[in-house]
Amino acid sequence: MDTDEFRRCGTDMVNYVADYFDTLRSRPVMPYVQHGFLKKLIPEKAPHKAESYEDVKKDLEDVVLKGVLHWRSPHFHAFVPLASSFPALIADMLVGALSSMPITWSANPSGTELEVAMMDWLGQMLKLPEEFLFSSGGKGGGVIQMTADDSATVAIIAARARAVREHGDMTPGQTLDKLVAYTSAEAHTCIKKAAQLALVNIRLLPTDENFSLRGQTLAAAIKEDKNKGFIPFFLGASVGTTSTIAVDNLCELGKICEQENVWMHIDAAYAGSAAICPEFRYLINGVEYSTSFCLNPHKWLHVNLLCSAMWIKDRELITEPFNVDPVYLRNHNLNGDVKMPDYRHWTIQLSRPFTSLKLWFVLRMYGVQQLQERIRKDVKLAKQFEALVRNDHRFEIVAQVVLGVVCFKLKGKNNDVNEELLKRINDDRRIYLTPSTSKGVFYLRFCIAVYTTDSKDVSFAWNIVQEQTDVLLGLHVNGIDEKTKKIDKVDATECFQ
Ligand SMILES: Cc1ncc(COP(=O)(O)O)c(C=O)c1O
Repeated sequence: MDTDEFRRCGTDMVNYVADYFDTLRSRPVMPYVQHGFLKKLIPEKAPHKAESYEDVKKDLEDVVLKGVLHWRSPHFHAFVPLASSFPALIADMLVGALSSMPITWSANPSGTELEVAMMDWLGQMLKLPEEFLFSSGGKGGGVIQMTADDSATVAIIAARARAVREHGDMTPGQTLDKLVAYTSAEAHTCIKKAAQLALVNIRLLPTDENFSLRGQTLAAAIKEDKNKGFIPFFLGASVGTTSTIAVDNLCELGKICEQENVWMHIDAAYAGSAAICPEFRYLINGVEYSTSFCLNPHKWLHVNLLCSAMWIKDRELITEPFNVDPVYLRNHNLNGDVKMPDYRHWTIQLSRPFTSLKLWFVLRMYGVQQLQERIRKDVKLAKQFEALVRNDHRFEIVAQVVLGVVCFKLKGKNNDVNEELLKRINDDRRIYLTPSTSKGVFYLRFCIAVYTTDSKDVSFAWNIVQEQTDVLLGLHVNGIDEKTKKIDKVDATECFQ
């Protein structure tokens, strides 16, 4: 493919993508496929002779799109948002084209310095304490990790290295055996997985009635463990758990971590982005106590995968244990009056894309104002869904709705019935929801996951929930219910076009 051919095919693909977005509302969100469907549709071996762009494109709808769950559909209400936006997609094309990696400063000077600038821009938008920003001239700074799992793993490995260093009276192996990390029973698995990978003990602590981890629980656990000879060294605190978007009490926890020399890492993967709105900034109050903090622009800040922003108060805590310095990675030019980071010392992997370019396009083309408005719009839609749930006496809300996720269940019904309801809703395939459990209770989660979801889509989804509930609870009486539906409910087919 030469540049002329690339121009022709690239333009065609941009049009295809635009058409995809234009028709997304009318596509069933869930694919109608079964395990092994693709095997029957593609050859067993790679083609020996080159095929044309047209040959490949011909199979997009019939092979690939056939089995795609449409995460960008306005009827997708699962998990937490996964960002994608046209400015980020455009920038992504350039990221791929440049293929220039900010691993050392000289490997991509613009990539390194734009990452420094974007992490400071974003940090300022969140009103992070100055010490997290490069612009403070202090020890802190930010880095783009691939995922929140990576951020948590980097944090725990760095915290482990610090603990081993501080306990020089023991061998690293002896210290490792005694280290204990904490997180809440509600936290995302990224914290537990990080501890597993770092080969350290971890305790999942119980939460209060709002699914929030409180200071006294942590203090009691630390006391108990110290009495047994363990060394508490790390807390994975959550701002917005995946299940209920619960927020741990960072101020209470932070004070204890400070006293006990415990590294507090905050996982704010989804909810942290809301802190760019002044009215939601309180969610990260207490961030000043943390050693490291992470949120994912690839969730709620319109940068498509992969982009997890991580800040640390003292960057040497990461760059020392992660440092490898072979001759082939040496910087070419160290002149200049400001010392810039070599990001290869901040991450697990070496190769890393020029992701700051995507942040740069998104932050400039939306501006802080539009990004705030988008968050507010999603929260408002979640509130709309919450009101619909609260108006139906058969349901109950499981957790306080603060941001864009509503956790709900059939009141007085056991886990099996609620699971059956979810199955029916998803089997219908017009919307897609995912569940969770907290304290042994199974519930459904409705997430405003996609920016194009509007108020009509929320009503549409609620109608489907009600329809399936009617059937499940055996209340569906033909005629009478149909009549009620016509009066009370938005016409589902109208939305599904
Ligand atoms: C609270 C929270 N933390 C961490 C993660 C994991 O994010 P990532 O896929 O970037 O590792 C998620 C994913 O949904 C999440 O909701």
